[in-house]
Amino acid sequence: MGVENSVAFQEKMKNIEKKGFLDMEINPSLDLHEEILRLKKEKNAVLLAHYYQESEIQDIADYIGDSLGLAQNAASTNADIIVFAGVHFMAETAKIVNPGKKVLLPDLNAGCSLSDSCPPSLFKAFKEKNPDHLVISYINCSAEIKALSDIICTSSNAQLIVESLPKDQKIIFAPDRNLGGYINKQTGRNMLLWNGSCMVHEIFSHEKLVKLKERHPEAKLIAHPECEEIILQMADYIGSTTQLLDFVAKDSGKVYIVATEAGILHQMSLNSPEKELIPAPPNNNCACNDCPHMKLNTLEKLYLCLKYEQPEILMDEQLRLAAKKPIDRMLDLSKQLMKKS
Ligand code: 13P
Ligand code: SF4
Repeated sequence: MGVENSVAFQEKMKNIEKKGFLDMEINPSLDLHEEILRLKKEKNAVLLAHYYQESEIQDIADYIGDSLGLAQNAASTNADIIVFAGVHFMAETAKIVNPGKKVLLPDLNAGCSLSDSCPPSLFKAFKEKNPDHLVISYINCSAEIKALSDIICTSSNAQLIVESLPKDQKIIFAPDRNLGGYINKQTGRNMLLWNGSCMVHEIFSHEKLVKLKERHPEAKLIAHPECEEIILQMADYIGSTTQLLDFVAKDSGKVYIVATEAGILHQMSLNSPEKELIPAPPNNNCACNDCPHMKLNTLEKLYLCLKYEQPEILMDEQLRLAAKKPIDRMLDLSKQLMKKS
């Protein structure tokens, strides 16, 4: 009997959902890069990766993007399997828009502090207290929160989506208070904000940034809108990960302080090798701005995930349909609005 038919092996497979691939062994002589490419081809799988993934994962992805680009790609792929190198809400979104595909996430524990800051039962009560409000939710939330929302947005289309609504429309914006506050400022609205935030984008130190700017007066500060207002106020440019990448590529400056997760620096330096990129300093003694959730995915887990087609994102059909409506609204609006802008 082959190892893969043994009782012990089947037990391990059952445990992947709970414990991940921790106790699976990989032949150390395997070229994981080659194996992943081979398995992708053999299984007609597409590998979608967020910019915050390890650079070795980004380098073998079929598509690398921000949350909007990834959702658009997931909705339109012809592949049979979507392997999502990102976090849980991203893979969940891929399943919601493409239920016929098998959606895999290399580590099911790759969550998101922002998504976790909005528990569905509390949010439902909040929504019920404000029944005349329309709900716009940032894509960084669970399927349950999406199902309670009217429109989803990402950091690259949030402003356009809010501006597409009548000025007197009352709006709840969830879960990111920083992105919501920034959009309120940009649009002159007074959206009711859910008090959630991202642990990675709230780590930047204002004090250290001021000193860094003094040492590099020529540097431009570019920031993701999930950062706190005090950081955004200092920024020369604010945008989603894709927008930050494009800005650096097109701008005439030479030095940039980058206030977002450090994974973006890989594509930024590939796109703009002549520019100096300085990660914004965090308010702790560790010099890294890594998202611990994003970084749970590794090349090893990616290989095992493709090989065994586990762990898979599964979802209740009623929940999926309810969560799909506001995502479809975003995808449609986004197409129309991007054409106009
Ligand atoms: P974008 O991909 O929209 O830039 O958002 C960044 C982020 O925090 C993803 O988790
Ligand atoms: Fe969530 Fe922040 Fe990590 Fe993005 S960077 S996945 S918002 S915790």
